[in-house]
Amino acid sequence: MSEITGIRINTNAKLQMGTFHVAVWGCQMNVYDADRIRDLMTASGYVEKAEPDGADVIILVTCAVRAKAEDKVFNQIATWRHRGVTNDETVIALGGCVGSELGQQIIEMNKGVSIVFGPRTAHRLPAMVAAFRATGDHIVDVKAEALEKFDALPEQGQRGPSAFVTIMEGCSNNCTYCIVPHTRGGEDSRPEQDILDEIAIHLEHGVKEIHLLGQNVNSYRGLNAEGKVGRFSSLLYEVASIPGVERLRFTTSNPMEFTDDIVQAIADLPIIADSIHIPVQSGSDRILKLMKRDYTSDSYRELVAKLRKARPNIYISTDIIVGFPGETDEDFAETMRLVNDIKFDSSFSFIYSKRPGTPAADLEDPVPLDHKRQNLYVLQAKLEEYASMYSQQMLGTRQRVLVEGISRKNENELKARTSNNRIAVFEGSRDLVGKMIDIDVIKVMSHTLKGQIVNA
Ligand code: 5AD
Ligand code: SF4
Repeated sequence: MSEITGIRINTNAKLQMGTFHVAVWGCQMNVYDADRIRDLMTASGYVEKAEPDGADVIILVTCAVRAKAEDKVFNQIATWRHRGVTNDETVIALGGCVGSELGQQIIEMNKGVSIVFGPRTAHRLPAMVAAFRATGDHIVDVKAEALEKFDALPEQGQRGPSAFVTIMEGCSNNCTYCIVPHTRGGEDSRPEQDILDEIAIHLEHGVKEIHLLGQNVNSYRGLNAEGKVGRFSSLLYEVASIPGVERLRFTTSNPMEFTDDIVQAIADLPIIADSIHIPVQSGSDRILKLMKRDYTSDSYRELVAKLRKARPNIYISTDIIVGFPGETDEDFAETMRLVNDIKFDSSFSFIYSKRPGTPAADLEDPVPLDHKRQNLYVLQAKLEEYASMYSQQMLGTRQRVLVEGISRKNENELKARTSNNRIAVFEGSRDLVGKMIDIDVIKVMSHTLKGQIVNA
């Protein structure tokens, strides 16, 4: 027996057989959570369906970072219902950041959602589904200790040669535009041994690439084997030394707390991939201050210079917000100046989205949306120009790639990822899936490289 929002229920979930489908939006941490939910539901006796049609339970793992992401979920639920994909019997569980942001309001919206869970309560899903089926009472359960989920989830399943491993939950930075500290809660790091144990299981399943995840991995402070508070750089050395780990990535690495020990680890460990994502958000110091980002555009430039000195082949990608409240044309020009100075690799850029309850939501925002859209267009054209410049420079080079699977467009081709995070396609035998191999880049297409296997 366990207790969920006051209802005492029988949690022998093996008896609740049925099918489920998981849909996921948003960041890589959501992808990680969605995969753990799949493992959990499967371990509880449910059978996964790749499509939502006719599934007994539909689980939505959502993103609340921008209002648009939130709207997509509700549009999806309405469309499924309209097309007969779901019916009165379908149990719809909505979780992730929107679950935590809106909680009970989701039930009150009357959009067909029966269960609301949060990023921290995903592990209670089978029990929630069982309780809902037994009583018909809606369930809202979004609060738990940050790390409880990791202890309660079953062993991860086998999913390709690259695996996400969440090393910390939540964020305590409180950037003024961001809803994440509210939806995922404050920062808490997993103990080092838990992370290493999870990696060991992935390696048993044939995983070659480990991708460490957190809202701000630089501030990782999990307990190490001696029971002392560890650092992210130490974790990097630990993971890099595990036999079988052939490539190591991490996201997100903020400019805040990107200390010299982390730069040194990147210099020391060739196993760390050649691409690092460091969200800058703006090139204007005035806007960075309003965003409560604890660095300046010049300190960001210095950080990138240090990284390029440590690893001349490093590719830097970023996130940029356009149209933060009160952003002037001069502020935007500063962002463009930074973009031209750094010459970022493929990056993400967004128009500022007002999120309820965040400090920036109270700021005056006089700039018309059309003007913001125009600036975004100018910025994205420039970002695209640099990303394709780097791709063009790869023509004729030899690249070590991890073969991730079969190309979606052509089943005779394999799909692989380069160290600098580009997708390459090439002809090759299916038994190469899951292996690291060398290819020559023979053509550069808009977002993909065409390769040829190097025969040793
Ligand atoms: N509006 C627009 N973009 C946002 N991001 C976070 N919050 C907002 C917001 N309110 C962007 C940031 C962050 C990325 C994950 O999402 O650039 O790095
Ligand atoms: Fe949001 Fe800032 Fe935390 Fe990133 S670092 S999740 S932008 S509060």
